[in-house]
Amino acid sequence: MGDERNNMIRIKTGIHGLDELIEGGFIEGSTILVSGGTGTGKTTFGLQFVYNGAAIFGEPGVIITIESRPDEIRTTALHFGWDLRRLEQENRIIIIDVASSRAGLPTSERHALRRGFDLTTLAEEIYLAVEEIKAKRVVIDSLSVLPTRYNDPAELREYVYRIGALLQQLRVTSVLIGECERPDPQILGGAEQFVTQGLIRLNLEETNGHLQRSLVVWKMRNTNHSMRRHPFLITEHGIEVNNTRTLSGGISEQCQHLSYQIGEKQEGNQWGRTHSNSR
Ligand SMILES: Nc1ncnc2c1ncn2[C@@H]1O[C@H](COP(=O)(O)OP(=O)(O)O)[C@@H](O)[C@H]1O
Ligand SMILES: [Mg+2]
Repeated sequence: MGDERNNMIRIKTGIHGLDELIEGGFIEGSTILVSGGTGTGKTTFGLQFVYNGAAIFGEPGVIITIESRPDEIRTTALHFGWDLRRLEQENRIIIIDVASSRAGLPTSERHALRRGFDLTTLAEEIYLAVEEIKAKRVVIDSLSVLPTRYNDPAELREYVYRIGALLQQLRVTSVLIGECERPDPQILGGAEQFVTQGLIRLNLEETNGHLQRSLVVWKMRNTNHSMRRHPFLITEHGIEVNNTRTLSGGISEQCQHLSYQIGEKQEGNQWGRTHSNSR
């Protein structure tokens, strides 16, 4: 037993204070969902995970950016002192521009979905990029905007499942980012649950006129993880988790990111109605 546990290779996130909460890092090859509302730090988390891999741990990474264009991502990263462009030039990071294609705009990026915003094309690009630099880490930011062309929940689940299967086949350790705008305890069973081995929830909450960031490791398969809500900061160095402090009284959010998105886009389906009622 002990041997098996020791044999599991842990991929350090290098995010200050986080690895201590999850037995040293993500299990190699696993797919971790990072979810939270807007401004909670998801993009920062994903960039930090891939940047640390490439810059510190000798593990190349692929960033799939669906919401922001690559130059925005490079600028954001540079604010934290993370020079993505240098790592791109050294073939240690590849950014795949999905944002342009999604917006119907041309792009001069080397890695982009030129034949349109489509999951088969995306899967192909991810495959090629991972092979090209022998990537060990992948981040998809974000999953919630992936399925704009698919409005059938079953089909959507199938596509998310396919992406998950591809990442598993490529043996990369992945962070999938999911949007979760507000708590919704009514809804259970979103698509991500079937494909992720871990779930980290980021939260931003106002108490007494102060905004407080916190994080919960909700699920981490085969890991004796912290069961507490930990405060974190975003500083000039990125995310810094205070793993010795615990927050009490944090809201217990239950949200299903993809189902939320589906609810938004598809008026009148079961999820859509639930969401309208909860407004
Ligand atoms: N240099 C910095 N120092 C402190 N906080 C920062 C810094 N840069 C960004 N932030 C915080 O990070 C937030 C954006 O985080 P981001 O990762 O983009 O969130 P999300 O992707 O969840 O919407 C900003 O709203 C700001 O509060
Ligand atoms: Mg973001």
